[in-house]
Amino acid sequence: MKLIKAIVRPNKVDDVKNALEKLHISGMTVTEVRGHGKQKGHTAIYRGQEYNVSLLPKMEVEVVLADSLADDAIKAIIEAARTGEIGDGRVFVIPVSESYRIRTGEKEV
Ligand SMILES: Nc1ncnc2c1ncn2[C@@H]1O[C@H](COP(=O)(O)OP(=O)(O)OP(=O)(O)O)[C@@H](O)[C@H]1O
Ligand SMILES: [Mg+2]
Repeated sequence: MKLIKAIVRPNKVDDVKNALEKLHISGMTVTEVRGHGKQKGHTAIYRGQEYNVSLLPKMEVEVVLADSLADDAIKAIIEAARTGEIGDGRVFVIPVSESYRIRTGEKEV
């Protein structure tokens, strides 16, 4: 299994959610987060100019899914979340070794 953590623009989270719902995923978690990437939270960086780091609001979408679904999910997220402007977000992919449903104790593989 893989954990896909996608950090996207708040106004793209519904599109990302809908794109993922079309795949056979069993759940997702969405969290409001704040962060910065390469531009340190600014839309432009000028040479020689000093900037403080700003933390911009983003949404984090987390999905744990079978390895076989990961590529399609990543593709769907990128397509749904992209505007082409800086700050579109990032997708991180993390291996997951085990997952348990608490109600039944069953282990998902
Ligand atoms: N290296 C990182 N580690 C953890 N979170 C990150 C990292 N880079 C970006 N993020 C998260 O992703 C959000 C969006 O980042 P952003 O889209 O600005 O990435 P970027 O790499 O600067 O790409 P771009 O050049 O398109 O802006 C950030 O607000 C932050 O929450
Ligand atoms: Mg950036």
